[in-house]
Amino acid sequence: MEASPANAPRLLITAGPTWEPIDAVRYLTNRSSGRLGLALAQSSIRRAWPTTLLLGPTPLPPPHTSHCSIRRFQTTAQLKALLVEHWPSHDVLLMAAAVADYRPVDVEPTQKRPRDGHGWNLALEPTPDLLADLAQTSRPDQTLIGFALEPADQLIESARRKLEQKHLDAIVANDLTTMESDTITATLLLRDGRTLSPGRELEKLEFANWLLDELATIRAAARTA
Ligand code: CTP
Repeated sequence: MEASPANAPRLLITAGPTWEPIDAVRYLTNRSSGRLGLALAQSSIRRAWPTTLLLGPTPLPPPHTSHCSIRRFQTTAQLKALLVEHWPSHDVLLMAAAVADYRPVDVEPTQKRPRDGHGWNLALEPTPDLLADLAQTSRPDQTLIGFALEPADQLIESARRKLEQKHLDAIVANDLTTMESDTITATLLLRDGRTLSPGRELEKLEFANWLLDELATIRAAARTA
């Protein structure tokens, strides 16, 4: 195994959607493929940086290498527990997972609701904001990077608001069309007010390489902000 470079950042990456059970066979989810988070893990592994990938339910294959430790999750609650376990031993969090904002309450995890010819009103409760909660307990030397999927007409404004509300060091803003695409047109918003952009649409792996190249800039901007 190739040794990690001296001072290599230890990356914690989340990827994929969450599944929120409704009963024993049904769940609520979203259209995230996990492709961007997997590309980030691939780029980090290529640099031989110590990498932990928290991977949600996606059919895409996880990386097979001793440079990357992989833990799987399905629900927001499971992802939260994994973040609490792993974040203290990492330097940078890349929170690319598409976490559910709402989940069903009063779930019967071992029962299947039968079809009875009536309607079914699902009661939903908000999930915790994992990233915002983690920011409360992070060390000053740790770097939190969020990913915001936004409608094109409010991309920067809405992403800047999330960066501030969640107390992040940086946020990647991209258009809703990114979700099921192989490519991404993204803008990176930094803590010190600057915005950076690769300047063109990129394959997700190219974008991951660009973002990890900018990591030193992101971390320096967070220290001076
Ligand atoms: N996020 C999180 N926990 C949640 C929801 C989102 O940690 N319950 C994280 C996502 O992983 C992402 C960032 O917050 O890195 C922004 O996610 P996004 O869905 O764009 O923002 P929300 O805060 O959910 O706001 P909204 O859905 O209203 O746009």
